[in-house]
Amino acid sequence: MKRNESHPAAVLLFGATGDLAKRKLYPALYSLYKQGILSHDFAVIGLARSPLTREEYHRRVKDSIARHSRFSLPGQEEWAAFAKHFFYQSLDIHDKAGFETLQTTLIQLDEHFSLKGNRIFYLSMAPDFFGLIAKNLHTAGLTRTNGWKRLVIEKPFGHDLSSAEQLNQEIREVFAEEEIYRIDHYLGKEMVQNIEVIRFANSIFEPVWNNRYIDNVQITSSETVGVEERGGYYEKAGALRDMVQNHILQMVAMVAMEPPSRLQTEAIRDEKVKVLRSLRRYEGDAVLQNVVSGQYTEGKIGEEIVPAYRQEAKVAPDSVTETYVAAKLMVDNFRWAGVPFYVRTGKRMAVKSTEITVQFKNPPMNLYFEKSGELGPNLLTIHIQPDEGMTLHLNAKRPGTAGGVFPIAMEVSKDSGIGYNSPEAYERLLHDILHGDTTNFTRWDEVAGAWEWVDPITQVLRDTGGKQLHFYAAGTMGPEAAHELLRKDGVDWWPLTPADRPCSPVKEGLPHEL
Ligand code: BG6
Repeated sequence: MKRNESHPAAVLLFGATGDLAKRKLYPALYSLYKQGILSHDFAVIGLARSPLTREEYHRRVKDSIARHSRFSLPGQEEWAAFAKHFFYQSLDIHDKAGFETLQTTLIQLDEHFSLKGNRIFYLSMAPDFFGLIAKNLHTAGLTRTNGWKRLVIEKPFGHDLSSAEQLNQEIREVFAEEEIYRIDHYLGKEMVQNIEVIRFANSIFEPVWNNRYIDNVQITSSETVGVEERGGYYEKAGALRDMVQNHILQMVAMVAMEPPSRLQTEAIRDEKVKVLRSLRRYEGDAVLQNVVSGQYTEGKIGEEIVPAYRQEAKVAPDSVTETYVAAKLMVDNFRWAGVPFYVRTGKRMAVKSTEITVQFKNPPMNLYFEKSGELGPNLLTIHIQPDEGMTLHLNAKRPGTAGGVFPIAMEVSKDSGIGYNSPEAYERLLHDILHGDTTNFTRWDEVAGAWEWVDPITQVLRDTGGKQLHFYAAGTMGPEAAHELLRKDGVDWWPLTPADRPCSPVKEGLPHEL
């Protein structure tokens, strides 16, 4: 099947009035429609508790597209053609009769829009209900269909390995593993998908992509936002579960994985799982030596004074939940033995940025040291967001007769004509779901492998009752201890802001004397 062909399907959207649906899913559906990937043969049934008329639902969908879509709102006629595919049913997920009504509606829509019995069950809601929904879908006959059925679920997949196992067991009673699409929206990002291509489609990187040539790898995902309205959820999650267990470890796996034997879903996932299984497990003191956790206090983001985490809504005034984590990971396998992977993520940091920086070892002998001081390291930075692109940092001869060496940066970005004005992650992921491609979704053993690494760490952080927590002012790059973590190894975080980089035009400029 071609990737841009239309794929008939009914999308049953649980959590249709929620934030994710509003900010991401309706705009993504609209983008797919604009590109002809959804055309005449699709129907969306919005499901939520609130009693809404179909017109009210349409208004909400339209409003979400107006606010969040990368395409502008269509004219009256085009809007009507799109909106006629959207239906709404108020549903209490405990109410079996409601699921029976849904089945009746679905049978009618299937015929009306020629959906070939294909069904996507998208659960955009708290995972506590996944098991119950799966069971009720099954009992009401919604999962018995002549076409295909796919279950899409959002994180968190449990809060530790055992709760994740239980959740998995419940949904596996109704859906097969290959029918389950566990979303990690980082896997839908353009430059995260690009890691594999940069590594395996270029012969210049792979030969040096190992412990003989790489000194360390740094992965940062920093945010300027706080916990917003999600204090209740975040109190139980913390940065380790919210960001590291999924997005950060997925990026580590993509940087560290072996080339798959072929570009096939399971071959790729097999390699990623091997990385997760090779992560050195930390317990007891090793956690405190390799993991730094932090929490933001009041501070300034731009011109705005923002409150401390402990003052946020639904957060305990003496909370010890971490809003920041930095860690040194070791991938104990032949390729990576001895190469630290430093990762960090946090809320209310100075900049919003996700980047991967691979730092290469210095040349065996520095011929230029006496003349020009130390050489800058060779670095490959993959910019994931907000900019998309990559930068290769090299050393070059300072032009002119004065001699010496200076750092230069070769950049590929959307401004360099490559056209990375990429679709939203959710658009790409919904496309993959329609297309039946599970590559960019998390397989169960990846989820389990990630929890196995995270669980002993959360255990230690909990046991110390917050004594290990380092406070950092909002609007900074996190606690000092996170810098210490790297300095012990003789390195530091590569600066995220261009003005702080040694080869930035701001600092270096072009030499005057030619
Ligand atoms: C989500 C987390 O998975 O990722 C949020 O639950 C976080 O807390 C978000 O803000 C970050 O996503 P992005 O795409 O903005 O980096």
